[in-house]
Amino acid sequence: MKLGFIGTGQIAKATITGICTSKISFQKVLVSPRNRNIAQKLKKRFRKVNIAKTNQEIIDKCDWIFLTVTPKVGEKILPKLNYRSSQTIINFISTIGNSQLKRYVKVKAKIVRALPLPPIALRKGPVPICPANKKVKRFFDHLGTAVEISDEKLFTNFWCMTAMMAPYYEILNTLSKWLSSKGLKKTDTQKYITSLFSAMSDDAVANSKEDLKILIKNSQTPGGLNEQALNKLRKLGFYKLLDKAANNVLKRLKKK
Ligand SMILES: NC(=O)c1ccc[n+]([C@@H]2O[C@H](COP(=O)([O-])OP(=O)(O)OC[C@H]3O[C@@H](n4cnc5c(N)ncnc54)[C@H](OP(=O)(O)O)[C@@H]3O)[C@@H](O)[C@H]2O)c1
Repeated sequence: MKLGFIGTGQIAKATITGICTSKISFQKVLVSPRNRNIAQKLKKRFRKVNIAKTNQEIIDKCDWIFLTVTPKVGEKILPKLNYRSSQTIINFISTIGNSQLKRYVKVKAKIVRALPLPPIALRKGPVPICPANKKVKRFFDHLGTAVEISDEKLFTNFWCMTAMMAPYYEILNTLSKWLSSKGLKKTDTQKYITSLFSAMSDDAVANSKEDLKILIKNSQTPGGLNEQALNKLRKLGFYKLLDKAANNVLKRLKKK
């Protein structure tokens, strides 16, 4: 299987890194010359990565085509390319939906929308895909956890949750700075906080079939420190603010 990437930016780099360090069986990855710097670094690092001369060359030579350009560039270049009906097109472009893309592609190729995040480079994290597709699910299961979604309207809600990356890292940064302010070395506090949250996330994933309330309950003892911190944050409206922030982002996405 030959994999082609139209647009060699941040998410293409992360995905290709994940693919080239995974157990996925593939012949080669062909990337577009832009971004030149990222394309050359990928070629240097992974022997199966090659750089095409044009976007059309990628479509002509590959079986699966990943669309990894920004929406504006996509709207401009995608309708001008010639696709084949035997191809699978994986669309990462957040604002171009499946019906819009079908109009650009014209032939009856398989079109699947996917929403990976930068930790795909580490082969971690969820990848919502729409519509459900067994082969595509199997592929992304090598790069994290594929989640099949049949209704494209629901896709927007997952997209909304991806806005929580920076707020999450800000929590890590705030707590790490708090620890450093007590006189500890920044490198040590950052190591401690990131590893603490990573361990808690792993535990939450391992227990994700259970109600998350159980984890909340089990991590508190009556009158203990966790109970104190949780109650204080609830009283301050911290968790209600998360709902508000999510609704605010969703409102914007629904206008697109
Ligand atoms: N970043 C994420 O976490 C993430 C997650 C999920 C989905 N997405 C989606 O993935 C898409 C790409 O995001 P990104 O963050 O990777 O953006 P990005 O880093 O800006 O990458 C876009 C790439 O497209 C290249 N490009 C521009 N014009 C081109 C053309 N005519 N032909 C081929 N390539 C061209 C750019 O090259 P130059 O640098 O030379 O201009 C750039 O390297 C977006 O639609 C975004 O919504 C991103």
